[in-house]
Amino acid sequence: MSLPATGMPPESVLAALETLRVDDPPVHGGRVLAYVYDADVDGLADVGRRALAAFGEVNGLDPTVFRSVARIENDLVGWGLDLLGGDEAACGLVSSGGTESCILAVLAAREEWRRRGGAGQPSVVLPVTAHPAFAKAAHLLGLRVRRVRVDPATCRVAARDVESALADEGASSALVVVSAPSYAHGVVDPVAEVAAVAQERGVPCHVDACIGGLVLPYVRRQGRSVPDFDLSVPGVRSLSADLHKYGFSPKGASLLLFSDVDYRLGTYFAYSDWPGYPVVNSTLQSTRSAGPMASAWAVLHALGDEGLADAVRRCVAATDRIVAAVAAIPGLCVAAEPDSTLIALAADHGAEAVDPFVLADRMRDRGWVIQPQPAYAGLPRTAHLTVQPASLATVDAFVADLAAAAAVSRVEVSADPGLVELAGQIDPAVLGAADIAGLLEVAGLGGDAAGLPDESAAVHALIEALPTALRDRLLAGFISGVFTADRSA
Ligand SMILES: Cc1ncc(COP(=O)(O)O)c(C=O)c1O
Repeated sequence: MSLPATGMPPESVLAALETLRVDDPPVHGGRVLAYVYDADVDGLADVGRRALAAFGEVNGLDPTVFRSVARIENDLVGWGLDLLGGDEAACGLVSSGGTESCILAVLAAREEWRRRGGAGQPSVVLPVTAHPAFAKAAHLLGLRVRRVRVDPATCRVAARDVESALADEGASSALVVVSAPSYAHGVVDPVAEVAAVAQERGVPCHVDACIGGLVLPYVRRQGRSVPDFDLSVPGVRSLSADLHKYGFSPKGASLLLFSDVDYRLGTYFAYSDWPGYPVVNSTLQSTRSAGPMASAWAVLHALGDEGLADAVRRCVAATDRIVAAVAAIPGLCVAAEPDSTLIALAADHGAEAVDPFVLADRMRDRGWVIQPQPAYAGLPRTAHLTVQPASLATVDAFVADLAAAAAVSRVEVSADPGLVELAGQIDPAVLGAADIAGLLEVAGLGGDAAGLPDESAAVHALIEALPTALRDRLLAGFISGVFTADRSA
């Protein structure tokens, strides 16, 4: 880009900016069943946007100067603690999102492990279904990841498997993670059982409730059974719950709650050994916009407790409708009965099986975005749905299109075995950017790397079949290609 010689009028700037979204799917309306969370409440998005703008320039770096930051954060954390089982000693913070909350949870655990005399490299024990944010945290913070299998029938980890992983890891174990629910399958791990085995060994347990933490308490209020998962469970020392997911606020806000202030202190970074202002950060950011937390505050107040309960009620109703409709579609099933408002669609091999990857393509033809997820560790290939309150208004159209799309998705797409064998001989560590570009070309992802081809099932099947290290390298290369600076103008 090159800047205009003289500044443009504000309306023209905003109109020009808006044109950059031309290829984006809509963030409202329920057509996109991943990445976005539409409460479908008139005027709500506008409240969030206005609060975001009003506080966008307020700097959360120093709450002694911008006092509103501490007020807003304390309000949000207090609400979260009341909702999610925090006792008198519990506390929390607001971060920029789920990944930052997960990283900070791992940091708090690592610091406690060190304080207690941990030596060598600490490890984090987690189910294979835990969100990659924990692998990222381990990568950044120098922990080893010990993955634990989940039961392919339930998609949940078993406490006894966590127990034996902890026994193997011994004094290295710094943290155990469980999901409530997992992103991929929408099921809640047995939090109480896992936290108990962790507590027996003096290891803290983190509950990743990033996506369901603000939903499950309201599901329980509807009289449905929800397994114990929150801070009131013995052994649970921290819990993450994202405001920018089912708190329906604009992106950039997550709650991270802790059992006690000493544990939270592990996330703080203070530094005064230089001639400038003393730095004290409770999160990974230093300067941080108060916009996201202010907009979360505004959205929650605009909804109110009943509004949130109603949003969850609509979400659950839509989830039930979709699960019931799937049961009537030959060749399709849910990978697990959802505990929350996420669904993983899988092939039902009792009938002519529907391929979830092909299904995602055929749903895209009909204007819906659902998300392909690879087979992994005995778990089937699936298509993910993040069901939203807005899904209820569109559920009839969705299930009709799902049945029609399934009818033309009863073909299994698999990777070319020759290509997979060839790929198996490649050492990802030696692949440079140019090699990656060449391989992506072969995989059908070359050229204009701005998006996936319309027929993406074969690409997903190939990615699924590749060795993990190689596919991670190729995926990084693919996204790196998307971020090619525009210097043409
Ligand atoms: C269970 C869970 N944990 C962590 C994350 C990461 O959250 P974010 O994308 O906000 O960084 C997600 C995202 O979907 C999630 O579902």
